[in-house]
Amino acid sequence: MKKLSDKTSLITGASSGIGQSCAYALAEEGSNLILAARRSERLHQIARELENKYHISVLVKTVDVRKKEDVFKMVDSLTEEWQAIDILINNAGLARGIEKIPEADIDNWETMIDTNVKGLLYMTRAVVPGMIRRNRGHIVNIGSIAGHEVYPGGNVYCATKHAVDAITKGLRIDLVNTAIRVSTVDPGLVETEFSIVRFDGDKEKAKNVYKGMRPLTGQDIADIVTFIVTRPSHVQIAEAIVFPTNQAAATIVHREE
Ligand SMILES: NC(=O)c1ccc[n+]([C@@H]2O[C@H](COP(=O)([O-])OP(=O)(O)OC[C@H]3O[C@@H](n4cnc5c(N)ncnc54)[C@H](OP(=O)(O)O)[C@@H]3O)[C@@H](O)[C@H]2O)c1
Repeated sequence: MKKLSDKTSLITGASSGIGQSCAYALAEEGSNLILAARRSERLHQIARELENKYHISVLVKTVDVRKKEDVFKMVDSLTEEWQAIDILINNAGLARGIEKIPEADIDNWETMIDTNVKGLLYMTRAVVPGMIRRNRGHIVNIGSIAGHEVYPGGNVYCATKHAVDAITKGLRIDLVNTAIRVSTVDPGLVETEFSIVRFDGDKEKAKNVYKGMRPLTGQDIADIVTFIVTRPSHVQIAEAIVFPTNQAAATIVHREE
């Protein structure tokens, strides 16, 4: 029996990594999907695969979550059958650079703050009023262990994920008198395109992040997201912090030579 067969889920950042894995995992449970990100061709390819494999309906929305008007236009323009979003996975996000604040590229700060904090807020503001009207819904934010600790060079990225943690807690308070649930999943090292983006396409540097250890996969995180959204409606998992087995904190990682 599929657990999400009458549901509609909107996933941001569905074109790669954790978001893409969440798309597959929720599709497997029968959820119809709205896939959002900037890379349209990738989203369409994923949509085709999911429709063929799981016989669900998939809607592709090419959107940059930093663009406030575009986010609201995207949600407002959904047809009635798509408007009743049950699950919102706020996953789109990124790190840019790992410089100390006095040396950092300010444009990287703007990109991280605009995507990880403001983009997540725009999408939440656009989707949640409908959930309140229906008195039904679940928001899952993808935070990070960077929302619980700060590591060298992590400064602004960590600040954005601390903000996600505060926004998650604040939204849970705001919605406490509704049937809507608010959760966060906060991973440690997951091997995705994350480090390639952080190091501006330098694949060698990106590979070194996971050297000598077994990182989590997008699928590992998607399994946990699926567990969270398939609990009975009175069960609200607030937070799941997930490390690979050989990681104990942002900077404490055991690596085999
Ligand atoms: N990998 C890790 O170790 C790790 C650990 C903790 C938390 N996280 C968090 O997990 C989330 C997903 O990251 P990932 O590891 O899966 O990395 P990823 O493979 O690089 O995926 C990031 C996704 O975000 C989307 N995105 C980025 N900027 C966007 C924008 N302005 N508008 C719309 N979509 C945007 C990207 O799509 P487009 O480029 O197509 O727009 C892509 O689909 C992020 O919030 C990240 O901070 C990752």
